[in-house]
Amino acid sequence: MSMTEPGTKPGTEPRTARSIPDQPGFCDACAQRTRDLHRAAERSGILRAVFAGRADRLGYASLLRNLLAVYQTLEAALDRASGHPVLGLLPRAGIDRTPAIAADLEVLCGPDWRALALLPAGAGYARHIATLGRGDPERLLAHAYVRYLGDLNGGQILARRLEVSLGPRASALSFHRFPASADPADLRACYRAALDRAGAELADPAAVIEEAAAAFAWNIALSDAVAAALPPADPAPPAPAAGP
Ligand code: HEM
Repeated sequence: MSMTEPGTKPGTEPRTARSIPDQPGFCDACAQRTRDLHRAAERSGILRAVFAGRADRLGYASLLRNLLAVYQTLEAALDRASGHPVLGLLPRAGIDRTPAIAADLEVLCGPDWRALALLPAGAGYARHIATLGRGDPERLLAHAYVRYLGDLNGGQILARRLEVSLGPRASALSFHRFPASADPADLRACYRAALDRAGAELADPAAVIEEAAAAFAWNIALSDAVAAALPPADPAPPAPAAGP
């Protein structure tokens, strides 16, 4: 039986990433496309403060509260796509972040974390992922690349910077911990390889690489929105009156 689709001339079959051996792998292609956006993300709103060791408890908790909605939506969509020819190739055990984020919110705020605002930027990011899950699930591969590979890379740096901002409380946080592997570098390499294998099965790799850029834009918007929603820092205490 011919594998050529009806109406396609032999030898002109649609080319998937797998059929183009000289192309960079999915992750390298995403990294090239998003290099400038990555730099912008590092310098954006609350992430800049976390990196500088200046994020306070409320600011970081607000970021987590919004990321909780994002990961809940992404992980529920990946659950539903477990038989999908691309998404079904992603490992999940030890990778999912929803339980760790919920636990960190309890550490930072106790049950009051539920009063933290889900900002339009966070709700919009989660809604975008839900829409893709229903209509264009392949593109979720880009969101898995941006979030989980980000958590396994820069997230490890941010965890150390949080110790500067939050003090001993930071040692109880688990968002950036991946206990499934003794060395995050091993998990990072395994997950990156799985993303590349899944990326080789994409029907439209260019669209999914472009979606990685959109995912970065959502993260930048969220980081800026979290910083903008914080109450202004306490003004410096007045200078003591000059003595007689
Ligand atoms: C202050 C914030 C951040 C710092 C310090 C940081 C730092 C890093 C570092 C050092 C790497 C490894 C680069 C390499 O191997 O060449 C990396 C990779 C990565 N980061 Fe970030 N990052 C930050 C924010 C973000 C954000 C907000 C995202 C997306 C939500 C993100 C997504 C990624 C991804 C997807 C990679 C993997 C690139 C690849 O291997 O293809 N990063 N980051």
